[in-house]
Amino acid sequence: MSNLHSKTLSFLLFLSLYLLPHSALAADPINLIPVHSADCSSKAYTNGSAFQTNLNTLFSSLNSKSPTSNFYNDTAGTGSDRVYGLFLCQGDLSNTDCQACITAATTNLQKACSQRQAIIYYDYCQLRYSDHDFFGIMDPNGFSTNNPDDVSDPERPLDFVSNLVKKAPYNKVPLMFAANASFQYRLFAMAECTKDITSADCAKCLSTIFEKIKVCCRDYQGWRFLSPSCSIRYEANSFLRNPNFTTSEIVESKCSDDELPSGDGNSQQDLSTLLSSLPSQASANGFYNTTVGVDANWLYGLALCRADLDPESNTCLSCLTEAATVAVDDCPNKTQAIVWREKCLLRYSNRNFFSAVSNDIEVLCNPVPMSEAEDVAVMQMMRSLVDKAPEIPRMFAADMLGNGTAYGLVQCTRDLSIEGCRDCLTEAMGNATERCNQMKGWRFLSGSCTARYESTPFFDPSILAADAPAPAGKGNVDSLPKVKSWGNVCGPNFTTLALLCLLVIISIGGRN
Ligand SMILES: *[C@@H]1O[C@H](CO)[C@@H](O)[C@H](O)[C@H]1NC(C)=O
Ligand SMILES: *[C@@H]1O[C@H](CO)[C@@H](O)[C@H](O)[C@H]1NC(C)=O
Ligand SMILES: *[C@@H]1O[C@H](CO)[C@@H](O)[C@H](O)[C@H]1NC(C)=O
Ligand SMILES: *[C@@H]1O[C@H](CO)[C@@H](O)[C@H](O)[C@H]1NC(C)=O
Ligand SMILES: *[C@@H]1O[C@H](CO)[C@@H](O)[C@H](O)[C@H]1NC(C)=O
Ligand SMILES: *[C@@H]1O[C@H](CO)[C@@H](O)[C@H](O)[C@H]1NC(C)=O
Ligand SMILES: *[C@@H]1O[C@H](CO)[C@@H](O)[C@H](O)[C@H]1NC(C)=O
Ligand SMILES: *[C@@H]1O[C@H](CO)[C@@H](O)[C@H](O)[C@H]1NC(C)=O
Ligand SMILES: *[C@@H]1O[C@H](CO)[C@@H](O)[C@H](O)[C@H]1NC(C)=O
Repeated sequence: MSNLHSKTLSFLLFLSLYLLPHSALAADPINLIPVHSADCSSKAYTNGSAFQTNLNTLFSSLNSKSPTSNFYNDTAGTGSDRVYGLFLCQGDLSNTDCQACITAATTNLQKACSQRQAIIYYDYCQLRYSDHDFFGIMDPNGFSTNNPDDVSDPERPLDFVSNLVKKAPYNKVPLMFAANASFQYRLFAMAECTKDITSADCAKCLSTIFEKIKVCCRDYQGWRFLSPSCSIRYEANSFLRNPNFTTSEIVESKCSDDELPSGDGNSQQDLSTLLSSLPSQASANGFYNTTVGVDANWLYGLALCRADLDPESNTCLSCLTEAATVAVDDCPNKTQAIVWREKCLLRYSNRNFFSAVSNDIEVLCNPVPMSEAEDVAVMQMMRSLVDKAPEIPRMFAADMLGNGTAYGLVQCTRDLSIEGCRDCLTEAMGNATERCNQMKGWRFLSGSCTARYESTPFFDPSILAADAPAPAGKGNVDSLPKVKSWGNVCGPNFTTLALLCLLVIISIGGRN
């Protein structure tokens, strides 16, 4: 089984912003003075014209979306007076701050511009409108600003940001946004694109402006480049905003470099058959593996949903449907791909990987440290999950520490044997111990298993109660592991105290 890690193969990393120490976060109100006065262009519209009416409609639509979304594009009106507009708030900006920023932007543009096209940039948001349909058209033409102080080692911020430039385009949900913080080197940075453009155009936009930064700004301690379609910012002090990004969702994928041959064998056609059938096949039982093709041109695919999902909901199906779309978008016609999402995993290859333990591994650590005592308790919990999961038909186990400070979940793809599952999860523990020692959260993602620990509940802790309805699909006889959440109290003799434990667990979960 070839390894998508191999140096000759490039692959795409989809790291969401996992991991910002809480102290990296600014809680102060955001600055609502524009970075630059509004850039108004094109012809003027007249007071009371249809265009102005449409513009006001657009502004109220954008204002009404800013409390719920950090990006929105919309149009108002028809014909030659139709107006197109969008806004983007920094990916980690809170709803309230995004709303305040967009209100400031629309108010400012209403006062400062009477042209049919304009854009305005603030520290944390930008807003643009035009009488031309610019949606989906990548535009990297903007401007830079920098702080006056020199930086001692210009390469360090550039290296730091280059990671984000690579990642942001593929962090599609909810936004093409990536950020990172290093206290040691005083590096705080983010890269972001408007969501109307494709990942490929986002990648182009960010690399274009990144090249400009290398020319204009590299020697300064703090710089940014703002453009209609993308922006990059680096500062020596944190301007990042949202603690919840510490447990952002898993959105990653990897693909091989080589592509399936087109034409005769038509394995590209087989791939689309595979990707369109896997989600529904897997959603009944939460797992499916299958092959498609003829002769030597087989394609092997599998799909797995997190075993705690409610089988009555269509969460599994919708997660896998999205994963299949991501596989097409991010790994177009590649011979191999793995897509990890928060609640599912989808994988295919032109080589038979069934029942082999995957070498394709990602380890992500939360940089926030924790005490040795906490680490001991967490690792003990995780090791007991690794012991349990392989023996359970669904190859899944989850648990929490009694005081609600740690949540763990491990799962294998069910093409593996018990030994294969154990090997995969044992490697996960080895890698996590080595790479994320005493860190408050980590994720191990492989093509064959996942293991994850967080300090906040990323799954519904009520599934841990032994008498909770097992979220098993039709025809599944196995149940969720009866995990020991409360030592002897909620341990093997759970039933007598089940109700009490359930209530306690729920109330602990609810407090987070
Ligand atoms: C954040 O920066 C650290 C140090 O440079 C790096 O190891 C890590 O991979 C980065 N994380 C992300 C999400 O870019
Ligand atoms: C546009 O019209 C409104 C009233 O309809 C008026 O208050 C405003 O001053 C006018 N603006 C301009 C630029 O003429
Ligand atoms: C937003 O932009 C996309 C293009 O990226 C377009 O397909 C979509 O229709 C736009 N949405 C609205 C509401 O105009
Ligand atoms: C973080 O998440 C919690 C729980 O989901 C939510 O109550 C809180 O408002 C979020 N904070 C921000 C800044 O989004
Ligand atoms: C992938 O293969 C399909 C079917 O042959 C083809 O229509 C499509 O254009 C290919 N996509 C790329 C990006 O090559
Ligand atoms: C939670 O429990 C673990 C071990 O059981 C312990 O190390 C940790 O200090 C506890 N945390 C709190 C906040 O009580
Ligand atoms: C699914 O994987 C198993 C190996 O675990 C293999 O025996 C079986 O043939 C596969 N199913 C299909 C439909 O390929
Ligand atoms: C994971 O551990 C294995 C050995 O158990 C090692 O070969 C591999 O390099 C580690 N991978 C990562 C990403 O740490
Ligand atoms: C569980 O209960 C049974 C009797 O109901 C008892 O024999 C056993 O010792 C108990 N086990 C534990 C671990 O308390």
